[in-house]
Amino acid sequence: MRIIMLGAPGAGKGTQSTFFAERLNIPHISSGAIFRKHIQDQDEIGKEVKDIIERGELVPDRIVIEMIMERILQRDCQRGYILDGFPRTYQQATALKHALLEFGEEIDHAVYLHVPDENIKKRMPNRLVCPKCDTPYNIMSNPPLVPGVCDRCGAILQERSDDTEETVQKRLETFHSETEPIKDYYRRKGLIIEVDGTKDPDEVYKDIVKALVHHGNH
Ligand code: AP5
Ligand code: MG
Repeated sequence: MRIIMLGAPGAGKGTQSTFFAERLNIPHISSGAIFRKHIQDQDEIGKEVKDIIERGELVPDRIVIEMIMERILQRDCQRGYILDGFPRTYQQATALKHALLEFGEEIDHAVYLHVPDENIKKRMPNRLVCPKCDTPYNIMSNPPLVPGVCDRCGAILQERSDDTEETVQKRLETFHSETEPIKDYYRRKGLIIEVDGTKDPDEVYKDIVKALVHHGNH
């Protein structure tokens, strides 16, 4: 099962991908999480992308495409994976398609989470993430069991440096101009599943599963 998770910043891609990865026992590959790890490690890629991410812009295609292609070729991806936050441009979508074709593979589903910008702006100031495993929490809607501590790995939760009001606004603009149009690319291929992402996370998950079953039968 190869699934793409599409949606605005804060739409719940990470939250839903975590559910699926656990349930299907396949890797959850978040391009943003991989970049955050490079930034923590202060390596070459980290230095190149830090300012871009903090401005809320997209990292150049050449960097992200190479990084994701390398990741999906790893052994643990043989049974499939959830791609969270990739592709984000038409060029990334076509690069992925061509890379998969070489192995006779293709994407099975592209899940699109619909959440209006106004909801997102309310969610973001309350988000905390795990600096180790990137699991997202929300002080209001999805708090950790122990305040400030990751349920999954016990690390101390942090705010993301790109969650400031100004950067969230810029990320939303970047999303609408550069990423939203690729929904049509996947729609034309008959792969899109559109879900209302404003319901509770459990409800959203159930809606996606229902849609996947329905989609699979066609
Ligand atoms: P990335 O890390 O992917 O950030 P993003 O797309 O902005 O999305 P987020 O991770 O902020 O949100 P999410 O949709 O995962 O939502 P979450 O589940 O956390 O990318 C970061 C940056 O890296 C980009 O801006 C770009 O610069 C660069 N980058 C990454 N990939 C790239 C690419 N392919 N090309 C170029 N550049 C790239 O949920 C958000 C909050 O809401 C949480 O608090 C959560 O608990 C809460 N929540 C979740 N679901 C619900 C719900 N149903 N109801 C209420 N609250 C909810
Ligand atoms: Mg995320």
